[in-house]
Amino acid sequence: MADQLEILRLPYACGAEVRGVDLRAYSDQQFGQIRAAWLENLVIVIRNQNVTDDQLTSFGQRFGVLDELPPVGKGQKPRDNKYISVISNVIEDGVPIGGLADDEVIWHSDTSYREKPPSASILYSLKLPAWGGDTGFANMYLALETLEPALRKKVDRLEIKNDITYNAGGQLREGFEPVKDVTKCPGAIHPIIRTHPETKRNCLYLGRRRNAYIPGLKVEDSEALLDQLWSHATQDFLNWHHKWKVGDVVIWDNRCTMHHRDNFDPKTHRIMHRAQARDDLRPARDFTVPDTPHDRGRVYLGNVAL
Ligand SMILES: [Fe+2]
Repeated sequence: MADQLEILRLPYACGAEVRGVDLRAYSDQQFGQIRAAWLENLVIVIRNQNVTDDQLTSFGQRFGVLDELPPVGKGQKPRDNKYISVISNVIEDGVPIGGLADDEVIWHSDTSYREKPPSASILYSLKLPAWGGDTGFANMYLALETLEPALRKKVDRLEIKNDITYNAGGQLREGFEPVKDVTKCPGAIHPIIRTHPETKRNCLYLGRRRNAYIPGLKVEDSEALLDQLWSHATQDFLNWHHKWKVGDVVIWDNRCTMHHRDNFDPKTHRIMHRAQARDDLRPARDFTVPDTPHDRGRVYLGNVAL
């Protein structure tokens, strides 16, 4: 069938490569396959693309309502396309053209501090550094499945307050004060275990570690519990690191993954264009849904048993 795409599942905890599509022109049937591959594999990469901001915008809009993204670099002028932001370390005339510079970016899910965080995040690579800058993705279905049973039980009905004050690069956001007390910092409260609204599977939803707080607990108890969850959820067996090539478009499901970026050669340039789409839903738990094994888990556990 001419419309049939090749979905190449990667041998890690998540990820698939989608082959045989040009994002400047694709059929509804092909988009259906892309979306299904995304839901099933959590993260997909489509290589060798050559798209304008407007074409990337049209593609992103197929995943949901696109967020308007304000300029993320200090002193940066608004871009013509308000749905595409730039992630880069390039500085032009003393002004960064994008956000997040060249440091490592810690594990997180995008904008978990909002009441309705985005469902899909999209990155398109235009220029890559000499070394580093890979992006890791972690499977949060599998993180829940492999959580130690007593810990799983303990966090069953708990929530996390997701601090808004700092970005994932550790920079204080404009207009916010440094956090002195995690119980008081602003940010949305979401369940630690959420039910994915489309796959109907439960997964861990941790947001980001910095200044997170579990309401109802003493700060020291909240810190200890969060440390336990984070040391589990960031183990290597739960993730896959994508090595970028120019022209890659990567789309991840922000509801059931976390991601982070390695640092990279600051003397060379990295330029990415980014869009994010939302399903307009608050992260929620459906208590009628039982935990179910994720097929990536069976692969992993099978490998270990061997
Ligand atoms: Fe991010």
